[in-house]
Amino acid sequence: MTSAIDTSIPVDTGDWCGADPFAPNFRDDPYPSLHALRARDPVNLTPVNTWRISRYDDVATIFRKAKTSQTLADGTAPNFDPLDTRGSFLEFMLNMDDPEHQRLRRLAMQSLGPNTVRQMEDEVKKTVEQTLDKALAQGGMEIIQDMAHLVPSRMVCQIMGIPESDRELFNEWTGARTNAFFARFLPPDVQQRTRDAGNAMADYFENLVRERRGNLGNDLISALIRAEAEGDKLRDGELVVQAIGIIVAGYETTIGLIGNGTRAFLDHPEQLALLREDPGLINNAIEECLRYDTPILFNWRVLQEPFEVSGKILPADAVLWMMLGSANRDPARFPEPDRFDIRRRDVAHQAFGGGVHFCLGNALARMEARHAIGQFALRTKGIEIRQGKLEWSHSFFRVMAQLPITFH
Ligand code: HEM
Repeated sequence: MTSAIDTSIPVDTGDWCGADPFAPNFRDDPYPSLHALRARDPVNLTPVNTWRISRYDDVATIFRKAKTSQTLADGTAPNFDPLDTRGSFLEFMLNMDDPEHQRLRRLAMQSLGPNTVRQMEDEVKKTVEQTLDKALAQGGMEIIQDMAHLVPSRMVCQIMGIPESDRELFNEWTGARTNAFFARFLPPDVQQRTRDAGNAMADYFENLVRERRGNLGNDLISALIRAEAEGDKLRDGELVVQAIGIIVAGYETTIGLIGNGTRAFLDHPEQLALLREDPGLINNAIEECLRYDTPILFNWRVLQEPFEVSGKILPADAVLWMMLGSANRDPARFPEPDRFDIRRRDVAHQAFGGGVHFCLGNALARMEARHAIGQFALRTKGIEIRQGKLEWSHSFFRVMAQLPITFH
């Protein structure tokens, strides 16, 4: 882009266009309002002076081509709560730009890459098998606690080297902490709960790191400590913040994938029957789950220079909210986007974001979901949902509070 472009954008005419993502009932069914937003104003200036990008092609183009940062030109984070300091994501890799971002990503990659995924697979299979044995014996289960939560929390705690006995501590912390990503726009009580979780998690990991220094193992925390010792300097507190960020990312998103994916199958019994007939469809089915009801409805970028999006020139320092959930339901990209179809071809969704920040845990999450949802489909029958209104957890992500079912 050249400086000849007129970048004078009005800043006081924003409109949620009926799709306020912070409204209490937005999560119940965001898709009709996201369809309306995409049709009416696909590059939408919000009342809080951020731009929502809701077409698939625009989201993909920005991830691929726009010169972006995760922070504003003055170095501040556009969406975080300025009072949220301890355990803050300011120095988490997702909020950093290269080269610092690459350095942190490479360190974490050693513990989240293909080798780890292979090593964890038997453990995931066994955990799911035992869960289903118990559920079938007792005639029902609570999908979120018994499966969607158990599998990722056990795996991510093992990867990080968190003792099994401490796992329960994270049940509330991780959910609450997801709100930090957009806390600037959340009500004061949620901001407070988010800060409390940040403090508690910082206390926990400071202690764990102190203990681990004298007792290194094969876990991610030890890998980060070793990197620090080998001169790949992690600034004070940086190590603790990576640990908090990774555990939040590893828990909450995958609970959403397994929970929402299972729910999609329960709401579409013919698709469940299809998977039972042809278990080889499982890989494509997981991609369709990620497209159909993605755990993270939006993430963010900041433009470093003006960029044209669907005919609008957005200025440097514009804060973009990339509406992943809307891109995944864009009819211009996915025919009949509201249909859950595990045989859909070309399910190249945006659930894991894109560009240099593309989700580092995607292979782990996919593997966990493949076993959890795949075995659930094959081993169960005669399922009834024992729940009236859908309830959401305290997470900012799309994570249900519970999903109780019985078998008959
Ligand atoms: C279904 C499950 C998951 C979903 C939907 C998901 C989604 C995402 C998204 C949208 C981003 C931001 C990407 C961007 O800004 O372009 C991200 C980043 C990240 N995710 Fe995931 N995630 C999942 C599972 C996991 C797991 C299991 C882990 C680790 C145990 C993980 C670790 C990370 C990390 C470390 C980043 C930051 C990467 C970077 O900044 O380079 N995620 N994820």
